[in-house]
Amino acid sequence: MKNKRSTRIFLACLLLTLTILACNQFVAEQKPPHDIATVPATDEASVTAMPEQPLEASAGSTGLGDSLYPDFGNGGYETTHYTLDMTINNISTSDLSAIVSIEANALQNLSSFNLDFVGFEINEITVNGESAEFERTESELTVYPSSAIAKDEAFTVIVQYAGSPEEMQSVALPVQTGWVTVDGGSFVMSEPDGSASFYPVNDHPLDKATYTFRVTVPVPLEVAANGVLTETINSGDTNTYIFEVRDPMASYLATINIDEFEIETSQSQTGVPIRDYYSSTLAEEYREPFARQPEMIDYFSEIFGPYPFEVYGSMLMDTEFGSALENQTLSIYGTDMIDLDNVEETELTVAHELSHQWFGDSVSVADWSDIWLNEGFATYSEGLWIEHTSGRESLDDWVKFIYSDVITYPEYYPAPGSPPADDLFNGGVYVRGGLLLHALRLEVGDENFFAILQTYFERYQGGNASTADFIAIAEEISAKDLSTFFDAWLFNEAIPSIPAMGLGVE
Ligand code: TRP
Ligand code: ZN
Repeated sequence: MKNKRSTRIFLACLLLTLTILACNQFVAEQKPPHDIATVPATDEASVTAMPEQPLEASAGSTGLGDSLYPDFGNGGYETTHYTLDMTINNISTSDLSAIVSIEANALQNLSSFNLDFVGFEINEITVNGESAEFERTESELTVYPSSAIAKDEAFTVIVQYAGSPEEMQSVALPVQTGWVTVDGGSFVMSEPDGSASFYPVNDHPLDKATYTFRVTVPVPLEVAANGVLTETINSGDTNTYIFEVRDPMASYLATINIDEFEIETSQSQTGVPIRDYYSSTLAEEYREPFARQPEMIDYFSEIFGPYPFEVYGSMLMDTEFGSALENQTLSIYGTDMIDLDNVEETELTVAHELSHQWFGDSVSVADWSDIWLNEGFATYSEGLWIEHTSGRESLDDWVKFIYSDVITYPEYYPAPGSPPADDLFNGGVYVRGGLLLHALRLEVGDENFFAILQTYFERYQGGNASTADFIAIAEEISAKDLSTFFDAWLFNEAIPSIPAMGLGVE
């Protein structure tokens, strides 16, 4: 592990050096003589003024360098705030008109920069109020500001567009990601690559930002989005909903959902307001598995650290899509995730999505190959909820049960530390990732284990963490060299044994 890590760092540095060299060369060779930024203005006033130094600017990169998805996101700038102003013109096709405003900071002198964006007709793009040229490929939008943007300069990009979102098949798992239009409404589930299907975005969890949603829908439809609903404006036959996300959010967690809803509110003892959205066509019994969310928030707050956002809630669409997703402050579920005959089992899914608010949403992956930091933690949180409600023996039974499944069907559970790009959410990152945490708990003891979780959350909340960051904290708190342990649990083809429980021992 130590060796592998330093090799990787060395390679990364080497790559970075080569890229910088290549970029400099590019600037030197390719600087077009007609570049507006480099040509001093010719009107009277500026001729007498000091000639401005031309800005050596270059294109921001078309990806953020993710090890699995190098094209995701873009380089050269970082976003701070998105305002999505959308009007839904036709609910059955999701035809919409949008004005998206992005506030960003330049990380280099930029002659152009990219956004990730798929579909729609773009009417206009401005940068700092000036109309900008742009170019598009399938998922990359390149913006050429009329004058170069200087490093460290704050700038505002406004993109005006219209049309219906295109259906997008994820590259990472066999589901439609992004904006999904259904009978009478629509919902959004984007992990990891669907956000570009409805707004122009720097689509990688490394570039978190705050958001404002301003969505107008025809009466009687309603909007459920992330964050706090601050205003509803009725204008006769339309309603406008304004939501504020004041904590940084990874782009894949942005969600706008449209339907007729029934809203149920509650509060955790620790004071977290909860608003759950249920499609109004759903029977009331669908609400039962969500009833213990306040208690779950309090329990997880106690063992992980205080709930990290202003509000929480779940949204149940009256559609089957075979999954649930932990959108920030508003997890979403298809009806087929709810087993009305087994509320306790369904509660595990509810606990899973809730725990992602700490692990995944507040502490986000630095690279998509770190996905076990989301799914392993959320899976083990199911076990922690079992322990909390039914005792340690029940947790042990659950551990034995899922361990035996890994042994019986190893092909479904690859090593969690190196997931393949086309099967990111495989059984290994969930179950072997969760079992890793239980094995770590047995290795370092309860006190160290929970101190590790709390320190990890405290240190990286609102930001990003890598597997190496987690290992460093585990070693720091336990004062143990855990390199052999993590190497085996993350990368061994076969799952390691848990001798203390007699699991995997011949
Ligand atoms: N993160 C989800 C979970 O809680 C799984 C997931 C990943 C997903 N991508 C998705 C669900 C896209 C729905 C759509 O396990
Ligand atoms: Zn999950």
